[in-house]
Amino acid sequence: MRNHRLDVQPIAGAMGAEVLGVDLSEELDEPTFGEVHRALLDHGAIFFRDQDITPSQQMAFAKRWGSIHLHPHMPCLPDHPGIIEVVKKETDVHTFGGNWHTDQMFTPTPARVTMLYAKEVPEAGGDTAFANLYMAYDALSDGMKAMIADLRTISLYDKKKKRAATMKPTEPENDPEPAEHPLVRPHPETGRKALYISYEGITRHIAGMTEEESRPILSYLMNHATRPEFTCRFRWRPGSMALWDNRRVLHLAINDYNGYRRVMHRITVEGERTL
Ligand code: OGA
Ligand code: MN
Repeated sequence: MRNHRLDVQPIAGAMGAEVLGVDLSEELDEPTFGEVHRALLDHGAIFFRDQDITPSQQMAFAKRWGSIHLHPHMPCLPDHPGIIEVVKKETDVHTFGGNWHTDQMFTPTPARVTMLYAKEVPEAGGDTAFANLYMAYDALSDGMKAMIADLRTISLYDKKKKRAATMKPTEPENDPEPAEHPLVRPHPETGRKALYISYEGITRHIAGMTEEESRPILSYLMNHATRPEFTCRFRWRPGSMALWDNRRVLHLAINDYNGYRRVMHRITVEGERTL
């Protein structure tokens, strides 16, 4: 048995698993952390229930995964640099993360892991969906795989996106630098190939091609990657914690709870260069 101490239970056929038997308020010993790490690599997103942790404890756990990424445009909790409070208020209509994306793809070193901890959630609604980008790549035809094998994409920060007042980023002072990434990204730890793409507000075009030329290809790939059979969906409760591997999953905040409040604490871990 691989998981001799942890109980890891898949929540869907494609990806995602609940990890039972871990208390994140305590420092995990190396073997336990190793198993949690393995579970993330195997399942793409892992979920812990009924955690009661402080921002400092969340930060201590986050640091096990690498250096903390400071978002260039989003303010953090006053006493906790590195923790963003993701809030949708009763009066907000826009949500943070409401299009399929992978975190910080607009930078040359996009996030490795994101961890999101639920403080307040609506009774129903506000789930997060995930899509498995290994499966999306594997399911392409040989012809499509050959066509996209060496393509690179150009991503930019989405300045035009509609955002709730509480989640307004500071405007970048200069026009953001475009970030170039391989469209087929080998995972730095597993070596498996993943399709690497975000929605059109971020992934604008294929390098060396116009937006008009690129759009049909990128739209096809995005629709393909988010087919229901490649996805899972996580229903939150207060105290739930999710970790996902941005190098090989997409995610989406489902905005179906207008009139209700949702508050999450979010930390992202800096990733490696993709090129
Ligand atoms: C994020 C994000 C999704 C959600 O924090 O990066 O996209 O469901 N969140 O809040
Ligand atoms: Mn996100």
